[in-house]
Amino acid sequence: MSHKIILDTDPGIDDAMAIFFAFQSPEIDVLGLTTVYGNVPVEMAAQNALTLCELAGQDIPVCKGVGMPWVGKESGYAHFVHGDDGFGNINFPPATNRKLDPRSSAQFIVDMARQHPGEITLVAIGPLGNLALALRLEPELPKLVKGVSIMGGAAFVPGNVTPVAEANIWNDAFAAEIVFAADWEVTMFGLDVTMTVPFSLEFLDTLKRNNQKCGGFVHDAAQFYVDFYSQNREQRVCFFHDAMPIAHLVDPSLFELKRGHARVSTDPLNIGQTSIAPPNTTTSADWLNARQVNVAVKVDSKRLTQLYTDTYSLS
Ligand code: RIB
Ligand code: CA
Repeated sequence: MSHKIILDTDPGIDDAMAIFFAFQSPEIDVLGLTTVYGNVPVEMAAQNALTLCELAGQDIPVCKGVGMPWVGKESGYAHFVHGDDGFGNINFPPATNRKLDPRSSAQFIVDMARQHPGEITLVAIGPLGNLALALRLEPELPKLVKGVSIMGGAAFVPGNVTPVAEANIWNDAFAAEIVFAADWEVTMFGLDVTMTVPFSLEFLDTLKRNNQKCGGFVHDAAQFYVDFYSQNREQRVCFFHDAMPIAHLVDPSLFELKRGHARVSTDPLNIGQTSIAPPNTTTSADWLNARQVNVAVKVDSKRLTQLYTDTYSLS
């Protein structure tokens, strides 16, 4: 079964691995990349997306989106995780024969949803400002998309920016609140699953062996990313968070999902927390009135890793 998707992204090293995985997957039809600030400023995210498309030989629309959170000041970005260039400081040459689509990310999302009603899955692997803005541009958007899959949140585990908040949600909690409350089907791949699958240097070597161009890029860019994740760890590993929502579209059997009422905190202390109340665990109206989302709680690490390496080897 083929899935039409729009990938909303803040590339970013794990974003790059996910984008190439989507490009390589026969089951996935990427209609476009919509960029957002997060790991890096949105201008860099947009240029990095063009570079990834050119490297992969993909001639699809790339749009520049929101560069600021819905509320509050400019983000601090995550150059300490992804490097000054967002690609692990490997000084990869920027795209020369790709130009941005003139539309904003939000406008592109709305245009494509109107063009392909009910067919597109929005896959968001960065902060959610573009999706929130698209909802404001087109209030009927939830009826026009097939579903929303996000890498973000931490339902039953600690956060990675604060003890309670994961980066993509923390970066734009007010936008996330809008997205979680909209009348569409949201499936959340948070740290509950992404932090259970560490990837070794051998995995990076395999990606490079299986796909010199895109696998080689990920191998080289991820060395900096491994350094970040390996502080205070015995083994040198990293976590490719962003590919999981795409892997779920390719093979849903890899994941166990649970449903629950979702609330996103926007108070200063807990901002970005994604709290999930499974059905029949509360009588509070504040929670029962919150929309239910699907939350990934388990993943088959071995089969997932095999899917990534096999897919990267496809010509
Ligand atoms: O918390 C991990 C998420 O934040 C990933 O999407 C990573 O790319 C960063 O955006
Ligand atoms: Ca990301």
